[in-house]
Amino acid sequence: MNKDTLIHKAIAAHVEKFGKQPESVAWAPGRIEVLGNHTDYNAGPVLSAAINLGHCFCISRSNQPGIRLLAVDVGQTASFDTSDAEKVPGFGWANYVKGVFYFIREHLGEKIDGLDCTFLGSIPMGAGLSSSAALEVAAAYAVLKILDTTIDKKEIARLCRRAEHQFAGTNCGLLDQFSSIFGLEHGLIHSDFRTLEGSAASLPEDIEFLVVNPHIKHSLADSPYNERRERCEQAAEQLAELLPHPVTALRDVSPEEFEANRSQIDAGAAKRAAHIIGEIDRVEQGVEQIRNGQIKAFGQLLFESHQSSVENFENSCPELDIVVDAAREAGALGARLSGGGFGGAAIAMVHSSEAKAVGEKITALCRAKGISPEIIEITPSAGAMTIPDR
Ligand code: GLA
Repeated sequence: MNKDTLIHKAIAAHVEKFGKQPESVAWAPGRIEVLGNHTDYNAGPVLSAAINLGHCFCISRSNQPGIRLLAVDVGQTASFDTSDAEKVPGFGWANYVKGVFYFIREHLGEKIDGLDCTFLGSIPMGAGLSSSAALEVAAAYAVLKILDTTIDKKEIARLCRRAEHQFAGTNCGLLDQFSSIFGLEHGLIHSDFRTLEGSAASLPEDIEFLVVNPHIKHSLADSPYNERRERCEQAAEQLAELLPHPVTALRDVSPEEFEANRSQIDAGAAKRAAHIIGEIDRVEQGVEQIRNGQIKAFGQLLFESHQSSVENFENSCPELDIVVDAAREAGALGARLSGGGFGGAAIAMVHSSEAKAVGEKITALCRAKGISPEIIEITPSAGAMTIPDR
């Protein structure tokens, strides 16, 4: 479903449920992580793109106290109050919104009450395309509009991440919210999660991405995501004891320093760190290659990234490995798991003129191995926005 249709449907559902036009409508996209896996919470860089799939969030004021939230897809309405940090019982999805409203309320010192809300999304759930971040960011933009106020965009990303940490239980980095907010039409975002600066990295116009979703159940909240993060922090602490300069995150350790010291730190933590330090290096190389038009070499980095996920970070799974192998055989320029891993989807980078043929070949090769993936062509898209009065 394209963005305009989605917005139209969300507004229609809002009017049908609450009997009035929304006063505030916002849209926020999901994202693909192109290169830089689990580097965000290690203060590293990432290349990502906001995508043409996302969430639309509508709000109108009500005389009733509290918040009512309609999820159009599931046809259910949750009710909650934003004055406490209790989770919404029975409606897991409502917590992303409650968390955002709760932290925005705390940040502004202003009440958030008496609102009727509706959301609808086009991102396949569990595909690792940051459906939850898109929902959080869309909710944040819509509520700020109805409150007639603004918050610095980076702060919005942080508030949404706090919602994810405390209401959904995933200690994620800032990548998903940051990409959803700072997305660029036709471009990749090169973000640095130490300085929180983002810049554009433009791929040639004939390059695009396929999302290959083998439909494996994926939820970071019950995956080893938090455990991986702890192991990275453990590696950074141990390397800090060995190196002559300050190390506050794995970003501070060069590949050479790591190789010279890895045998002296916990072997399990070293494997995880090898992935992160390799990824940081690959993003830096990748940015140079994009700048120099070396797209083939850049594609190879995507394959290397996936291999490191398999060997070092152990966040791939057999289905994603089949997809990445199929993509290589089908002639994709590069392919890798995208996002947290432990399920979700993979991306394949292709020439636009070959996208259809490569996609069909990937499907055929996967079918031969017992997997029927869904293939979605993705367009790098602009970041979150409020929709002007219609
Ligand atoms: C998930 C998290 C992000 C990031 C990626 C892996 O998408 O939400 O913060 O850590 O995994 O790069």
